Amino acid sequence: MTEDRGSLAGRRVVVGVSGSIAAYKAVSLVRLLAERGAIVDVAMTPAATEFVTPLTFASLTHRRVVDDVMALDADSQIAHVELAEGADAIVIAPATANLLAELAAGNAGNAVTAIALASRAPLVVAPAMDAGMWTHPATQRNIETLRGFGHRVVEPEVGALASGLTGVGRLAEPDSIVEVVERLFARAGDLEGLQVVVSAGGTREPIDPVRFIGNRSSGKMGVAIAEAARDRGASVTLIAGVMSVPPPRGVSVVDASTAAAMRQAVLRSASGADVLVMAAAVADFAPKRASSSKIKRGGGDLQIDLVANPDIIAEVGEMADGTRPFLVGFAAESDELEANARSKLRDKGLDLIVGNKVGGPFDAIGSDENKVIVFGAEGELSDWPMLPKRQVAERLWDLIVDRYRKAHAPERPERPARSRRR
Ligand code: C5P
Repeated sequence: MTEDRGSLAGRRVVVGVSGSIAAYKAVSLVRLLAERGAIVDVAMTPAATEFVTPLTFASLTHRRVVDDVMALDADSQIAHVELAEGADAIVIAPATANLLAELAAGNAGNAVTAIALASRAPLVVAPAMDAGMWTHPATQRNIETLRGFGHRVVEPEVGALASGLTGVGRLAEPDSIVEVVERLFARAGDLEGLQVVVSAGGTREPIDPVRFIGNRSSGKMGVAIAEAARDRGASVTLIAGVMSVPPPRGVSVVDASTAAAMRQAVLRSASGADVLVMAAAVADFAPKRASSSKIKRGGGDLQIDLVANPDIIAEVGEMADGTRPFLVGFAAESDELEANARSKLRDKGLDLIVGNKVGGPFDAIGSDENKVIVFGAEGELSDWPMLPKRQVAERLWDLIVDRYRKAHAPERPERPARSRRR
């Protein structure tokens, strides 16, 4: 890993400015980013230019400001496309209620929204608006949509607003926004060099050529975990059960639609893996024999004998120390979440277990969000609210990286204790 983790030096950051009275704070933001060594380009909506002139930003950055979605750069390239492709990060500050709505809808009518839509760089939005606008369900829904896209939101602060009232809606201070951007780069690359295996989705245990025993798992949580690992630099294998979402690009995918196929795929990849996350909902039971021809309706009932499937992650848990990857399991429980998660952690030999509730008023299965509780050997480790699955994945990787690195830190010879001098 490089020395300058988290450094902004040499990073290309696009600052998008929209039409709010807080646009003047974007000037400090741009200055702070530039001071920390970032190469900053500024894009503005037409309304933003009513508050601060493009010349102000151009003087600070020594670069042309893009305030026209149709503008061409010096080489006759479309300026917003060039910026979108070259950006390491995009920060939209201030983001008005209108701009958030445009981003959530995927509109690209001005230079800022066009860059945001065209780019795949991580995006941070720092909203600023009147308190009534911020708390309106439409804005809150848009914010959730943006979080669902994986964008980071720097929440507005409470304070005096342009209207003269006091409330929530003030743009976060430029320092706090810079911190979020720095953290973005600190995380990028923290899984570099690691082989990560993630299982996702449900299994289907055949009864006959057309029928199966399955479950409602969508694969969304596992896919978010694989995607986050990829973005943080890991080399990722996704063992894909039956999923309702496509596998992410840039990871190797092994299809495994039955528990037996999943077992084979996991055991094959586990010995070379540094971390294994079993997010898949593996069927605990399978029909004893799958009929090779379609079972016909008879006069009466049908009995199907079920046999227990091998517990895949528990098998990996039994691998010898040194060959065994860092093991993360999931526990989807309708009752006694905590007790069940803790006993699974112990019985299966896991390093971490992620518990989530299923089947109640909130059901993690198939949802875009999840509220999880993570346990390690010493007890509960997380206190996270309901979050988009991608954010759950990021926080989970923060925990895994921390523990994995501690467990694999090169041993330091113990120093003899020295009496402290005052
Ligand atoms: O089904 P159960 O609640 O025991 O699943 C807990 C964890 O064990 C999950 O991470 C799941 O992927 C894994 N598991 C497995 N093999 C099974 C059943 C579950 O690896 N046959």
